[in-house]
Amino acid sequence: MATNLTFHPGSVDHHERVDLLQQSGITIWFTGLSASGKSTIACALEQHLLHLHKFTYRLDGDNIRYGLNKDLGFDERSRNENIRRIGEVSRLFTDAACITLTAFISPYRADRALARKIHEEAGLNFMEVFVDAPLAVVEQRDPKGLYKKARLGEIKEFTGISAPYEPPLDAELHIKTAECDVEEAVRIIIGYLLEKGYIF
Ligand code: PPS
Repeated sequence: MATNLTFHPGSVDHHERVDLLQQSGITIWFTGLSASGKSTIACALEQHLLHLHKFTYRLDGDNIRYGLNKDLGFDERSRNENIRRIGEVSRLFTDAACITLTAFISPYRADRALARKIHEEAGLNFMEVFVDAPLAVVEQRDPKGLYKKARLGEIKEFTGISAPYEPPLDAELHIKTAECDVEEAVRIIIGYLLEKGYIF
C-alpha cells in the first residue's frame, strides 16, 4: 500500500447527504450461480426503483469485466480481487446515498464477508440476497451455453462444475428462482426495503 496519503473527508458527510437527498444508500449484494437469475432480478429491481424516483445503479459481473476488471480472470485470486474491488466501488456508490445493486457470482463466503465489512466499517447499509437455483436447473437454462462448454472441458474453473460456490449462511434474503418469477422476487425485495426503512 502507498504511504504518505491523507484522507479528505469533504464538506458534506454521509448523514447530511442522506438528509439532503432524502434517500438512504444501501448495497444490495446478489450472489448465486451463473444463470441463477441475479442479473435478471437486479435489472427488474433497478427499473422498479427508478420508477419510484430512487437514485439507483447496478454493477453487473459481465459488464464490469469489460472495463474496470478486464485484467482479471476466474482463478480464485482473480475472483477475490474482483469482489474486493466491487466491495470498494459499491461502498462509494452507497456512500453517495445510491441504492447500489451488485450482481456477481461472488462464490466465496470470505469475499462476501469482506464486502460487508467494508460497508459496516464505513457505517453504510449492506444486505445480501442469495439467488438460489439448483445446479440441475441452471444447467438446463444455460442461456450462454457456458455450462455445456464447462462440461466439455472447454471452460476451466467454471463455478458449480469445476470451481466452488459457497452458499450464504446468513443472507438477509433467500430467493429460490426455480419457485418464483422475477416480479415476485422484486416484490419480496421491495417489501424488505420498506419494512426495514431503507426506502420510504
Ligand atoms: S465472480 O466469480 O464473482 O468473480 O464472477 P463474475 O464477475 O460475477 O462473472 C461471472 C460471469 O462471467 C462469465 N464466466 C464465468 N463464470 C463463472 N466461471 C467461469 N469460469 C466463467 N467464465 C466466464 C459468466 O457469463 C458469468 O455471468 P453470469 O451472469 O453469472 O452468468
